[in-house]
Amino acid sequence: MLETNLCGVTLKNPVIAASGTFGFGAEYSQLFDVSGLGAICTKGLTLHPREGNPGLRVWETPAGMMNSIGLQNPGISVFLERELPRMRTLGTAIIANVGGGDLEEYVEGVRLVSGAEGVDIIELNISCPNVHEGGMAFGIKCDVAASVVTAVRRVCGKPLMVKLSPNAEDITAMAVACEQAGADAVSLVNTFKALAIDIHTRKPVFDNVTAGLSGPCIKPIALRMVWEVARAVHIPVVGIGGIATWQDALEFLMAGATAIQVGTATFVKPTAMLDIVDGLERYCTVEHLVTGDSPSCCNIQWRIP
Ligand SMILES: Cc1cc2nc3c(=O)[nH]c(=O)nc-3n(C[C@H](O)[C@H](O)[C@H](O)COP(=O)(O)O)c2cc1C
Repeated sequence: MLETNLCGVTLKNPVIAASGTFGFGAEYSQLFDVSGLGAICTKGLTLHPREGNPGLRVWETPAGMMNSIGLQNPGISVFLERELPRMRTLGTAIIANVGGGDLEEYVEGVRLVSGAEGVDIIELNISCPNVHEGGMAFGIKCDVAASVVTAVRRVCGKPLMVKLSPNAEDITAMAVACEQAGADAVSLVNTFKALAIDIHTRKPVFDNVTAGLSGPCIKPIALRMVWEVARAVHIPVVGIGGIATWQDALEFLMAGATAIQVGTATFVKPTAMLDIVDGLERYCTVEHLVTGDSPSCCNIQWRIP
């Protein structure tokens, strides 16, 4: 009932753990059966290991959180040797999120990860707001983003999903530029560039001054962006941003998303994604009984114009 096809890959449902909020799935697999998820996106991977940013890394806000992790990760070779074999035992699809400091790093990173057995989809992260070189710098201007997508496309033998920044100059034009450069799907959004100030020290909370905002506070803006992008491209759109309940997830599906990702909500309730899967299943069953509509969350007729 919830089975979803995302650029040729069959997901058992459209609910995906968002990059950076689920590690490589190992810790959460001790808390619940992660095989109930549609897929897991890995933490952002770079060619070389990264220590991440100094100073405070997370900060709670009234309806969400800010983070400044700085792409801390063990590097692609450790991922391939240690984390990927473990992830492959978890019983769900694997999406490798790949970042980079410059074009060469992106290309080499994608080439290595794309060649690995067990990786189903590559999510190209051109939208991280918390690193000085690369990251979001590639996701603001359409021509810069298109040049990265074109270059990685040449070495990528797997479905390529490009993760967009809400800080892009024009998110719709950006999605179209990525599609034309060879993306098989787009996912959006990453976090919004934001600021918090400690009034006692009279300094920014984060060493980097700005950080990325996520959680329920961004949901209506993310939803609007997903709706706009879904009307402009012909490739699948994966909706991300403040999704915490099955009702939130349905809003994104009705706005045109093929699947959704959940990030911050998992920190509040580790099993939030399973609740979303359950809720979607119940909704489809009831809608089918009441209206006779196809009992599928991919029902195109449910999309808003
Ligand atoms: C602590 C934290 C770390 C994150 N790390 C990454 C990352 O490594 N790569 C990436 O593409 N997105 C990363 N993100 C962004 C999320 O995947 C997601 O796009 C964003 O948080 C919005 O979704 P949400 O409101 O459901 O959290 C991170 C988010 C958080 C909160």
